[in-house]
Amino acid sequence: MEFSIKALSPEKKKTGCLVLGVWQGAALTRGAQIADKASGGHIGGVLRHGDLSGRSGSTLLLHSVPGIAAERVLLVGLGEQKEFGEAAFREAIRTAASGLRNLGARDATLAFADLKVARRALPWNVRHAVTGIRDAFYRFDSLKTQKKPPVPPLAAVTLAVIGAPATMQAERALREASATADGIDFAKTLGNLPPNICTPAYLAEEAKKLAREFKLGYEVLEQRDMEKLGMGALLAVTRGSRQPPKLIVLKYMGGPKKDKPIVYVGKGITFDTGGISLKPGAEMDEMKFDMSGAGSVLGTMRALAGMRAPLNAIALIPTCENMPDGNATRPGDIVTTMSGQTVEILNTDAEGRLILCDALTYAERFEPDVVIDVATLTGACVIALGHVASGLFSNDVKLCNEISAASDDAWDRVWAMPLWEDYQEQLRSNFADMANIGGRPAGSITAACYLARFAKKLRWAHLDVAGTAWKSGREKGSTGRPVPLLTRFALRHAGVK
Ligand code: BES
Ligand code: MN
Ligand code: ZN
Repeated sequence: MEFSIKALSPEKKKTGCLVLGVWQGAALTRGAQIADKASGGHIGGVLRHGDLSGRSGSTLLLHSVPGIAAERVLLVGLGEQKEFGEAAFREAIRTAASGLRNLGARDATLAFADLKVARRALPWNVRHAVTGIRDAFYRFDSLKTQKKPPVPPLAAVTLAVIGAPATMQAERALREASATADGIDFAKTLGNLPPNICTPAYLAEEAKKLAREFKLGYEVLEQRDMEKLGMGALLAVTRGSRQPPKLIVLKYMGGPKKDKPIVYVGKGITFDTGGISLKPGAEMDEMKFDMSGAGSVLGTMRALAGMRAPLNAIALIPTCENMPDGNATRPGDIVTTMSGQTVEILNTDAEGRLILCDALTYAERFEPDVVIDVATLTGACVIALGHVASGLFSNDVKLCNEISAASDDAWDRVWAMPLWEDYQEQLRSNFADMANIGGRPAGSITAACYLARFAKKLRWAHLDVAGTAWKSGREKGSTGRPVPLLTRFALRHAGVK
């Protein structure tokens, strides 16, 4: 889907569908007023019949509107004009996109993307219009033999700006958003793929393909390399699996060579049964999404490389399966991590932190500027923050604030949680330096506290995306989060507005 941004008068555009905004109370937006005038008052007349109130979420499709070059006109309710903020704008984009999905139009022109959103400027609207529409048009049906009736291929979308020329920043926002949407789609597809296809080797192959397409540095560490490095925690998790583990390294060097890289570490458990501490059977299929951290880190690399972002970033992905087996790690086993610290594995289902801790130690060799790990780490985080915000933990206040600001900008929300020393004692072990679990209270915090013990030499943050990386129920599927956040963070951190 190609996006463009153009200064134009909406009635003149030859397009499959012209999308106009209508405020609550059936008042026309500026673009709609211009179109209404050209139509000789036709649009206003339809509204006076009471067919569209302008309530947010409502739509009305008109055909053969006089004086309008477009084949159809889709009117979209925007809600109250004086309350038009970020949430209302994003909702209007979603409504427009789902309206467009049900049409035969091959191209569309959106005439409300330049409306003033409180606190925001045009580039923000552009980014959210593009990613919102791309999100609505994402499909995962490669494994269905009966494809749904072909979704009309909406090949091109024009964002019309009315009255003023499109700015350079808006053009750049458009390219940034298209690349971000490619990264989001990529992460979604990796997440949605079944665990018999999306194995550690498959993730490594996909990373290699990205490396070829975008000329990235690529390296993969095999089990024998992990053994040489002493990654006892990562190796403990993979023991029960027939699938060989991988540690994938992907390097994008778009900035000055001397600039220290951002290192993104993604949890890549391609299936989490819990191991010997076996999970209950209900909904266990969803543990295929336990590689969502890895998927989002790969998606972010794709986004950054696709837009040629002026910065250096490295993806580091420890990936394996967590399976029960005669050779699997037992509760009570003690292992030595790459850092030299010993861990008593009291619960084999707390495996994410085990693969991440060795990856964090390995990250030191890249002399990173900052390290951010992304993991579907704890069910407790879902209890704390639900499916709205990802949990944010950091050992650096400035980094924490930077991530929060990027998250607000990307509307990919996080909430900062404490990492106080007071919680560390929950990880006490009688037999090793620490246990890998801290009991039921504050489960997402003690998981982060465990990781913090391996990040002492780093400016580090941890994102627990257990509640945000995928949806359950009827809408089951990967969300692609937090690709929007990680991409925006990297750009802002590099000084791109
Ligand atoms: N992958 C899970 C976390 C998870 C659970 C994400 C449910 C989304 C939904 C993780 O490996 C896990 O099993 N964590 C345990 C930790 C516990 C044993 C301390 C959990 O959250 O129950
Ligand atoms: Mn687990
Ligand atoms: Zn897990």
